[in-house]
Amino acid sequence: MKWGAIFFAVVALAAGIWYITQTDSKDVGKKSQSGVGLPDGAIAAVKVPASFTVQEQIGLRAYDAVCADCHGVNAQGKEGLAPPLVHKIYEPNHHGDMAFVIAAQNGVRAHHWKFGNMPAVKGVTQADVLNIVAYVRALQRENGIN
Ligand code: HEC
Repeated sequence: MKWGAIFFAVVALAAGIWYITQTDSKDVGKKSQSGVGLPDGAIAAVKVPASFTVQEQIGLRAYDAVCADCHGVNAQGKEGLAPPLVHKIYEPNHHGDMAFVIAAQNGVRAHHWKFGNMPAVKGVTQADVLNIVAYVRALQRENGIN
């Protein structure tokens, strides 16, 4: 009975150590894979605010539907596709809200980056884009861009 308890304790300890070393090596693997500790394919490390206003949440949904394929989730950019919108270049006094509306309506000729042109985005109204802007501005503020 006594030996049984000691055996059990040793096995539990070994399992604990195994578990800890397993999760450690997994985390290390993730970091070295993406090189700089960014999520897969992201260009900018983006901090997400703890909460969003109702308008920002509506913008988030629209953004995920029509912009995220290129600009990435959380507007963090996507390797080989499009720049992060959470970036100093896109701060409000350099790219005002209308720059977003015009970008979605007419597309953008490549000028800041080497991703190529942005095509016009079909099926979004000006109101949709302004909700998207509210969402992107919330992300920008959280990351010190304002
Ligand atoms: C097919 C890919 C693609 C999609 C979809 C896309 N973009 Fe872009 N976007 C780009 C690329 C590439 C650029 C960078 C152009 C450059 O080099 O300056 C860009 C640039 C921009 C700019 C900067 C405009 C400027 O004046 O410099 C804004 C703002 C923007 N996108 C917003 C959006 C929004 C909002 C959506 C969703 C409604 C969206 N984009 C969807 C690829 C995309």
